[in-house]
Amino acid sequence: MSLPPGFLDELRNRVSISQVVGRKVVWDMRKSNQAKGDMWAPCPFHQEKSASFHVDDRKGYYYCFGCHAKGDALSFLRETENVGFMEAVEILAREAGMTMPARDPKAAERADRRTELTRVMDEAVKYYRMQLSTQAGAEARAYIQRRGLTPETVSRFELGFAPDQRQGLFNALVQKGIAAELIVEAGLCAKPDDGGAPYDRFRGRIIYPIRDARGRAISLGGRAMDPNARAKYLNGPETPLFDKGRSLYNHGPAREACGKGQPLIVCEGYMDVIALAQAGFGGAVAPLGTAVTEEQLHLMWRIHDEPVIALDGDTAGIRAAMRVVDLALPLLEAGKALRFAILPGGQDPDELIKAGGPGAMQRVLDGARPMVDLLWQRETEGKVFDSPERRAALDKSLRTAISRIRDASIRRHYGAEVDRLRRDLFGFSATSGQGTTGQGFTAYREDRPFRRRPFGAKPPALPLPATRSTLLVAAEGEAVPDHLREAVILAILATHPALIPEFESQLETMRFSDPAHERLAEAMLQAIGAGEILPRIMQAAGADLDRLLRQPHVRTAPPVLRHDDTAFARMCLAEELAKAEAARAVRAEVAEAAEELEGLADEGVTWRLSEANRARERAERSKLDDTSDMGEDRAALSAQLQALIDGEVWRKRKG
Ligand code: UTP
Ligand code: MN
Repeated sequence: MSLPPGFLDELRNRVSISQVVGRKVVWDMRKSNQAKGDMWAPCPFHQEKSASFHVDDRKGYYYCFGCHAKGDALSFLRETENVGFMEAVEILAREAGMTMPARDPKAAERADRRTELTRVMDEAVKYYRMQLSTQAGAEARAYIQRRGLTPETVSRFELGFAPDQRQGLFNALVQKGIAAELIVEAGLCAKPDDGGAPYDRFRGRIIYPIRDARGRAISLGGRAMDPNARAKYLNGPETPLFDKGRSLYNHGPAREACGKGQPLIVCEGYMDVIALAQAGFGGAVAPLGTAVTEEQLHLMWRIHDEPVIALDGDTAGIRAAMRVVDLALPLLEAGKALRFAILPGGQDPDELIKAGGPGAMQRVLDGARPMVDLLWQRETEGKVFDSPERRAALDKSLRTAISRIRDASIRRHYGAEVDRLRRDLFGFSATSGQGTTGQGFTAYREDRPFRRRPFGAKPPALPLPATRSTLLVAAEGEAVPDHLREAVILAILATHPALIPEFESQLETMRFSDPAHERLAEAMLQAIGAGEILPRIMQAAGADLDRLLRQPHVRTAPPVLRHDDTAFARMCLAEELAKAEAARAVRAEVAEAAEELEGLADEGVTWRLSEANRARERAERSKLDDTSDMGEDRAALSAQLQALIDGEVWRKRKG
């Protein structure tokens, strides 16, 4: 349950704290000044005869000069009635004549829906696993055995079998009382266009359950046993549970393995992950039927500083590797890198292990090359640099590639490395002949400003108005800058470490604007499962945590202060995370729109679009009293972008 913005403020304004407290104490009328709302009584929290308990009705606070108890009407109720935060809110709301709403009924509904869908998925996983042991599953069992999977592996990956029936799963689930509509929404069955009954999506396939980082079943993959099937692999569709681009096969177990020192191996498919795990490489993941996405790269970097991309050495594999290089270049940061292990003879990890055992795989991993090597290979392979023009063309393409690295230090190091490779290639005379200034890539990178991605940059952090001293007060109506929101989210988690496992998946997919925040989030994720979460976090990122908790607006955020109030912290966290996610979604949309324009865009359109984006941010910040969510913003923004596109702003205006 959560509350709409401004609800608590309204509640505090409406109730008189002296009325609430007055039911529990006897006022010292000589000491009190009722007209001023300045009330004194013997303290209800400790034994005393004098009146050292003070209530300031106007400010809505109490403070005991004897035992230092302090708080507002809500905390008073919680202390004296022994109720939780939400209950206290309910009691006061009833008194104040305010109806208790679900804060964001849509979010609550979505969360409930997801829980329901996860249950449906669990039932489906169970059903398919059971089918594998039936008579009809004999052929599937034989196939699995032929592929060399042990019974332990089969149960570790929960492999199943979908018999070739039109409504096998559908009927089984309906019999369990699951609504047809839910089965369809989970992506398990499809509804025919003619309006007939839903039919099973997976038929005659080996089933690979896909779980998220927390282990919840979110989708399925299915491999055809019939070599002539239309699609060898079929993955579940996008559903409220399953976002392909933000999911990784074997995410949770791989993270655990990497936490124990295993390398993170990124391969192409289900079978590779499974074969790797069976061979002792537990830290294997795969994207799900699509090319690796930026989101997935970030997820991988959360698990390991240097994931190894393992790809077939065939053309398709090399092309896939190059796509990853292009994707990763702008995202590189100090300590976050990639290595590439190109497998010999067009083999995938599954085949390599089958042919050469775990040792062969280990050798490939040991020989994994840094990303800069691949970049170099792409620009030089199969080309001849026998003329100044050709050498200049190479320089240009390398410079363009390197300029896409946003991190200045890494850019410099890439420049230096490419410079070295270039000298090796051209030999001393070629280099000195060409680079008459004596400058290599390191140097001429720096004096040539590169074009930044227009929307990559975060808006500058806003100073908080002095009058709004705590985050949640500020957050009631006003847009809180990302950085501050991140800081508070992390601080709440650090002060309520018990909540970390509960919010793991959100933490997992969240992106941070500050490397210190990133480190902290990572430390938190890695501490999950360790008996003592907080000491582990301190060990991994103690300095970052220390700095975080020293920031005044973070330290004074109510959920951070109330470190014994888990329910309140949970509510605040859910709210802040939802807002962070909404902001992310809006930005992603802008970035996407911008990317569509890329290639058409000149500097002018880039500038105009970034102005549009900035205008949106300004609007967001100034909406002090607006209680609506980001939906309107997004609509306005889309309209704005559409107008720019309709106006063909990228056409250079003449004269
Ligand atoms: P591959 O065709 O390389 O299959 O597809 P594989 O992993 O080696 O599988 P086996 O060994 O033949 O069983 C690699 C990945 O690409 C996706 C799947 O995720 C697969 O694991 N894929 C492939 C599809 O989504 N659809 C397809 O039709 C084929
Ligand atoms: Mn294979």
